[in-house]
Amino acid sequence: MNSLTNQVYPVIWHNDSVSLIDQNRLPNEYAFVEIHRSEDMARAIKTMIVRGAPAIGVAAAYGMYLGAREIEAHNRNEFLNSLEKVAQMLRSTRPTAVNLFWAISRMLKTAYETLGTVEEIKEILLQTAKIINAEDLQTCEAIGDHGLAVLPNTPEKLTILTHCNAGALATAGYGTALGVVRSAFREGRLVRVFADETRPRLQGAKLTAWECVQEGIPVTVITDSMAAHCMKQGLIHAVVVGADRIAANGDTANKIGTYSLALVSQAHNIPFFVAAPLSTIDFSLPDGSQIPIEERQPEEIYQIGDTIITPKGAEFYNPAFDVTPAHLIKAIITENGAFAPSELAKSQKKQAAKIA
Ligand code: MRU
Repeated sequence: MNSLTNQVYPVIWHNDSVSLIDQNRLPNEYAFVEIHRSEDMARAIKTMIVRGAPAIGVAAAYGMYLGAREIEAHNRNEFLNSLEKVAQMLRSTRPTAVNLFWAISRMLKTAYETLGTVEEIKEILLQTAKIINAEDLQTCEAIGDHGLAVLPNTPEKLTILTHCNAGALATAGYGTALGVVRSAFREGRLVRVFADETRPRLQGAKLTAWECVQEGIPVTVITDSMAAHCMKQGLIHAVVVGADRIAANGDTANKIGTYSLALVSQAHNIPFFVAAPLSTIDFSLPDGSQIPIEERQPEEIYQIGDTIITPKGAEFYNPAFDVTPAHLIKAIITENGAFAPSELAKSQKKQAAKIA
């Protein structure tokens, strides 16, 4: 954390290596892990030292550079063949967040398109990773501000419910869903955040609550099963969540429990928003049915700390993400503006127009 601004940057290029905030140790310890090698970056992504779709993308981009730096070949083709292997190792870490694959593809494309010596390609790869990092920060700030245009106008200040952590820790900084929260708080429109604890990894209780406390944003942590009750009591004005992968029709994969939150939002007529960068949209998938869903180890369910909480003989199923159908989503807030799911293709056109 930058002590002057309270800004949190989970992935920092520093002294020829990458410093990652160890998110597995928050909120009790604020510690960094230094990553010097691509293999260690792959392990950090897999073990969730760094997590959250955009942050995983930024980390993987630096991982690609670290891998490039380790390659001893001076011949361009040999270098590119070895770089493909680094890409494969990083791709195999987590399957759902598309930003991982997006960042790796962008780094590979840069390597293939750069003419020059192997040393020159390596240097351009480091610059590209830094650009991906800086762009994500700007993107999140833009998402936050576009969110202001679609949040409901209520006589009283807003209370927003969010799920998992889609904050600074899950991005290059500022956050997507929590970026909207931050912007609303800055503008005096937000009074409180409700954070679902987010079983089984507790990103809401541990990370979202920590970020809000750092920033002085009032936060109330609830267990996931309390959301419908809070809505019925009139405590929630809007729900804003992040995304790991959005299909072309707007179906959205996000942390397990997001789908049920969208259903209870609909039942209570509460607007449900997804906030995500365009790099999270996978236009190659027409709908959410083909989004790969990560299944994680059963210990995350049957064990809390060192205590086993279930009887011997029980079986477990631990999908880490679910897919919310587009019809439950009021708008997808991107750096290019907010779009109804059915209009998502326009965000791509706007992006293409910006690049041209
Ligand atoms: O398993 P995690 O902690 O990587 O899952 C994170 C989420 O589901 C986030 O909501 C998502 O990546 C959006 S982060 C801006």
